[in-house]
Amino acid sequence: MAIRVWISLFLCVFALLGSESYASESEDTQSKEFVVTLDHSNFSDFVGRHKFIVVEFYAPWCGHCKKLVPEYEKAAQILSQNDPPVVLAKVDASEEQNKVLASEFDIKGFPTLKILRYGGSVVQDYKGPREADGIVSYVKKQSGPASAEIKSSKDAEDFIDVNKIIIVGVFPEFSGEKFENFTAVAERLRADYDFGHTSDAKLLPRGDSSVSGPVVRLFKPFDELFVDFQEFDVDALAKLVEEATIPTVTVYNKDPNNHPFVVKFFNSPNAKAMLFVNFNNDLFDSFKSKYHEVAEQYKGNDISFLIGDVEASQGAFQYFGLKEDQTPLIIIQTNDGEKYLKPNVEPDHIASWVKDFKDGKVKPFKKSEPIPEVNSEPVKVLVADNFQDMVFNSGKNVLIEFYAPWCGHCKQLAPILDEVAVSFESDADVMIAKIDATANDIPQGTFEVQGYPTLYFKSASGKLLQHQGGRTKEDIIDFIQENRDKAAEQAPGKDEL
Ligand SMILES: *[C@@H]1O[C@H](CO)[C@@H](O)[C@H](O)[C@H]1NC(C)=O
Ligand SMILES: *[C@@H]1O[C@H](CO)[C@@H](O)[C@H](O)[C@H]1NC(C)=O
Repeated sequence: MAIRVWISLFLCVFALLGSESYASESEDTQSKEFVVTLDHSNFSDFVGRHKFIVVEFYAPWCGHCKKLVPEYEKAAQILSQNDPPVVLAKVDASEEQNKVLASEFDIKGFPTLKILRYGGSVVQDYKGPREADGIVSYVKKQSGPASAEIKSSKDAEDFIDVNKIIIVGVFPEFSGEKFENFTAVAERLRADYDFGHTSDAKLLPRGDSSVSGPVVRLFKPFDELFVDFQEFDVDALAKLVEEATIPTVTVYNKDPNNHPFVVKFFNSPNAKAMLFVNFNNDLFDSFKSKYHEVAEQYKGNDISFLIGDVEASQGAFQYFGLKEDQTPLIIIQTNDGEKYLKPNVEPDHIASWVKDFKDGKVKPFKKSEPIPEVNSEPVKVLVADNFQDMVFNSGKNVLIEFYAPWCGHCKQLAPILDEVAVSFESDADVMIAKIDATANDIPQGTFEVQGYPTLYFKSASGKLLQHQGGRTKEDIIDFIQENRDKAAEQAPGKDEL
């Protein structure tokens, strides 16, 4: 789940800006809706009759879904004129009766778009753009053959976009096992990359033009710019493609062309090193080349590298609790969630700091609010830096609320927790506490905080459990009394009732 949060923090930053209401835009278009509404009662039947269909799972209250409405409708209108026509459909996944359907498709966020082929027997993630023209061209490509033939230099020019990954198979003839295997790989990975095939390598912009194949040439907008493969086993070729499409250094800025690589970066199982620097910084080129050298050096060593423009990275800064005056900075997050920080780094420091990290000489860093100087309110304030002492070393029974400052249910709960805390004020064995889980790192692997507020109880002897019951004052007091360590002598909280 952490990975999902990260990716969305990085990529939703722009999407969130300017998400206006869509009502005004769609009112004056004609009343016919081109997007087909489906629900649990007719989904299978309708999808079953289509060789290719796009389905959006949405929730009416979701901002990104609202933003998509006019774009999706416009795309549906254009695609209804396509030969053959392509249908775009939608399912309200928040509707109680459609929830089973949504879970069959493993829908975790909104909007999620899926491409369903052959009556729904093949399901693929939609990974294309979210505005009308982009949807149209992506869907057209997806509904055509998995690999497009390149017959002329015009074809090649139209097809090979230098900002994207393009994979072209060169074959003397378009048949045989190798060609079929190439096509199978194209079918498997078509959501992510554009595939083509040709019998004339001279049409291609880079690489040896005298080859007659079979050879697979992968073009990429970074590093060595192209690479040739002569592997035709389906799994092995797919793996080579996936590896070759990870940049030595992933770039994160406002350019949407880079975003698919950012997603890959976060999905990788490696430790993640991120250098945040202002791309207009005078020393930017020097940062870039030094960082690149380090990334080359650690290739294949379970660590991936990203360089991010400070201007585009507010979401990441918030997530990690970083400040702009700490930039340029490097932060490394390992798989177990530990973070290591080098603030105000200079180009010449990068290599030695990464080496120190690798050698285990750097201490992890925790995001924490300052420890409060006075902590005398009934509900005690926890921060990352006093958490261990107050929760685990205090020998008390502690009820902990994990909250977010913007969360409405947390605000409702606040006065109730206050009352609970007051009722235990004379009980030295019980503490009621809260922690802003957006401003502080919470101990990894100990607490599952999936939403706010989340309440946990830690008994004096260290037993840990989540409070799932009612949230009235009485419910919470009862819960504490039931679960506190019986060793604790008195129960004044209960007596006061
Ligand atoms: C599916 O059922 C819903 C609810 O009855 C309806 O609004 C929608 O138009 C139906 N779709 C199709 C394609 O029949
Ligand atoms: C084609 O792929 C299949 C299945 O992955 C594999 O067994 C076969 O060896 C491949 N053929 C060639 C020529 O690589």
